[in-house]
Amino acid sequence: MEKLLSTERFTDFTGPNLSELAQFGKVYLFETVSSTQDIAKKLVSKQEPALVIALNQTKGRGRFLRRWHSVQGGLYFSYLLFPDFSVKDKTAQMTMLISLAVAQTLESLSGQKIDLRWPNDIMISGKKLGGLLCEARQNALIIGVGINLNQPFFPAFLSDATSLFIETNQNYELDKVLRLILTRCTNLYQEFNTGKFAQFLPEIKSRHILLNQRVRADLWLRRIEGNVLDLDDDGRLLIRTDSGRLLTITAGKVHRIKSV
Ligand code: BTN
Repeated sequence: MEKLLSTERFTDFTGPNLSELAQFGKVYLFETVSSTQDIAKKLVSKQEPALVIALNQTKGRGRFLRRWHSVQGGLYFSYLLFPDFSVKDKTAQMTMLISLAVAQTLESLSGQKIDLRWPNDIMISGKKLGGLLCEARQNALIIGVGINLNQPFFPAFLSDATSLFIETNQNYELDKVLRLILTRCTNLYQEFNTGKFAQFLPEIKSRHILLNQRVRADLWLRRIEGNVLDLDDDGRLLIRTDSGRLLTITAGKVHRIKSV
């Protein structure tokens, strides 16, 4: 049974950082939920911005229904927004924009370089530090974010995963990190609303670890190999396949592979 926590009992979210979170939407705090994403979906009918946060998730999920390992120590939240634009058209761009806000925030907190891996991974030293799952429902955008902050280790099957604690030997306050991320998201989002996505591309590209790399991409019903040429103005990946075709990828699993 999902238990909505009173803020007094939620020791990782107390004090000024918590009260400041209310500026971003109605705050729902949970000790354990199936998935913050699913709770946020149920809140769409309320038509008000909301922030769903959990300490643990039993069915945290990522893209392609992959499990998102969600034990205590990580930051797991879903941010429910009702933008003025058509959410379906801009989900990919918003994913990149929020990834950029997360990367900038974690970089300034940790002093470590934070990279991005198309389309939704937050990376540090070649390992996965976090991920985003942005979903559109009616007029709502549900931005799910999972960040490995304080976990001291990961199960062996997650050999690609790391946490900020493992990388920097420091602990991070979940509520403070969340407040800083949301502040940056709000700033970038305001710029995005008044300008063009392309203005963010230089920084997004500079953090992108797939650019100019050889990759294998698992697409709908087929697998291709080739070289990543660029990100286009809508945040899609341009790949020159080994057979010479130029492909524009909007979704798929893309992995770096070694050149032969
Ligand atoms: C991915 O790497 O594929 C995306 C992972 C997204 C995980 C977050 S954790 C909070 C929110 N709730 C979920 O069930 N998923 C997202």
